[in-house]
Amino acid sequence: MAIVAYFVFASFACGAGYQPTPRRSVESMLRLAAVGPGDTVYDLGAGTGAVLFRAAARGATAVGVEVEPTRVLILRLRRRFSPLRDRVTLSWGNMFAMDLRPATVIAVFLWPDAMRRLRPIFESQLTPGTRIVSHYHPLPGYIPTMEDRAAKVYLYRWPATPVTPA
Ligand SMILES: C[S@@+](CC[C@H](N)C(=O)[O-])C[C@H]1O[C@@H](n2cnc3c(N)ncnc32)[C@H](O)[C@@H]1O
Repeated sequence: MAIVAYFVFASFACGAGYQPTPRRSVESMLRLAAVGPGDTVYDLGAGTGAVLFRAAARGATAVGVEVEPTRVLILRLRRRFSPLRDRVTLSWGNMFAMDLRPATVIAVFLWPDAMRRLRPIFESQLTPGTRIVSHYHPLPGYIPTMEDRAAKVYLYRWPATPVTPA
């Protein structure tokens, strides 16, 4: 029980606990963001790779950053035995310290506070045309370009449209 609690909640203070994105939502994220060859997908908080390896399967270069060490170990094992390993890069560290400028797509499934902390980083680093795709929580302060309500997926094409105060 303690091990399960550690696995799920230990990273909570860093930005989010662990919960894999459901398969249907992963497919929706990749479809809305039109991920394909030529894309570089950054999965911020890659977990055990639900999004990362599906992005690579669509021909993209997939870059995962994960803070929690047992999940990093699982990701490394998955990459080692995956035929897609040449397209997957892993980083054990803090997503708030990443250089996001090479990304053409950013994928996230994070808690609202982490989304708030990422917002100024997106504003200072992302280039026009970059897509941000989020499962479950919208990016605060911006209107989604597209959304899939059933799968709880929000797409933002950068520069995203800010919410105007009423
Ligand atoms: C809700 S899970 C989503 C996992 C994966 N993206 C997926 O969709 O299956 C959030 C992940 O973010 C990781 N995380 C939380 N804060 C982080 C941080 N500051 N830097 C890197 N990873 C972080 C957690 O360890 C957890 O694995």
